[in-house]
Amino acid sequence: MTFPHGSFFIRDLEISPRLVMAPLHEITDQPFRKFIKEIGGVGLVVSEMISSEALVRSARKAEKMMANTGEHPYSMQLSGSTPSVLAETARLCEEAGADMVDLNMGCPASNVTKGGAGSALLRDVRLAESCVSAMVKAVKIPVTVKMRAGWDASQKERGEFLDFLHMFEAAGIEALAIHPRTRAQQYEGHADWSIIARAVDAGVRYPIIGNGDVITPHDAFRMDRETGCAAVMIGRGALYNPFIFREVLDPEFQVTTEMRVDATLRFFRILLELLEPREALHKIKKIGSWFTKGIPGGVAFRQKLNQSNDPEELLADLEALKHMQAA
Ligand SMILES: Cc1cc2nc3c(=O)[nH]c(=O)nc-3n(C[C@H](O)[C@H](O)[C@H](O)COP(=O)(O)O)c2cc1C
Repeated sequence: MTFPHGSFFIRDLEISPRLVMAPLHEITDQPFRKFIKEIGGVGLVVSEMISSEALVRSARKAEKMMANTGEHPYSMQLSGSTPSVLAETARLCEEAGADMVDLNMGCPASNVTKGGAGSALLRDVRLAESCVSAMVKAVKIPVTVKMRAGWDASQKERGEFLDFLHMFEAAGIEALAIHPRTRAQQYEGHADWSIIARAVDAGVRYPIIGNGDVITPHDAFRMDRETGCAAVMIGRGALYNPFIFREVLDPEFQVTTEMRVDATLRFFRILLELLEPREALHKIKKIGSWFTKGIPGGVAFRQKLNQSNDPEELLADLEALKHMQAA
């Protein structure tokens, strides 16, 4: 079936539709994943990056990051660069109910790369192989990887990502998501989709998930057409518009500003249900401001949002903003 309908498989796990919510640190936590699944249109959700080192120390925060309200299929993403620790924590993800476990080889943040994790693994194919192999051996669920196009432009130009792709195949990974910026680019410049197309052309056995700069439904179709990827992964586009997956699925689907405010309200209610009020307020301040960009009354609402310390008052402000859209 033509994109985005139909499905793709990660081993025997059918993912349908072929749309994936990207892992976003401090965003795609349990409440966000519940919310985005409720909005609909997304085939796979991924946890935010969980530090394997923190998890192995049983840090409370990392354990909370593993919590899941029953969304399936569901992937947990680990960061780290010590094979034995990654193996141990991959087992914890499996025990916690993840359908698959992903290794982060893309994070550009220096606090992650200085320990050799995230995109720093792209500079050391042997270590990367040891990490992936240790995870594959440790669990029965599929192991996947999310990578960048390389550490810097010269590594990208040498096409070293293709060596990684073949190494991953031999090590037994079962899907790969590519965000084709280099680490040096951070989030600047553009995602070079020709890298995704080259990865697809490499003919490896596992599916290639394309990612980067899909902001509109049109971008999703273009990525599918231009690269031949098995699925499209969307990150920031779903923050600007959490209905983007629905829009990709159904070109007739119309999002009104009232629906956007209603979604913000629903998100806040999920946050209040699952988190302490203080944490829920912190999250809605961060994410609610994206959700309400460009909405009539949104600027005034965001000023209140920033100052608010009272969940009930904020719920009332959101109800008022919703009525303003309907008027
Ligand atoms: C705020 C933020 C947090 C992110 N956190 C993660 C993460 O935890 N794990 C990961 O693999 N990528 C992370 N990324 C990268 C995204 O998953 C994605 O690869 C990148 O944003 C490009 O896709 P997009 O253009 O659709 O946003 C993050 C990106 C942003 C903007």
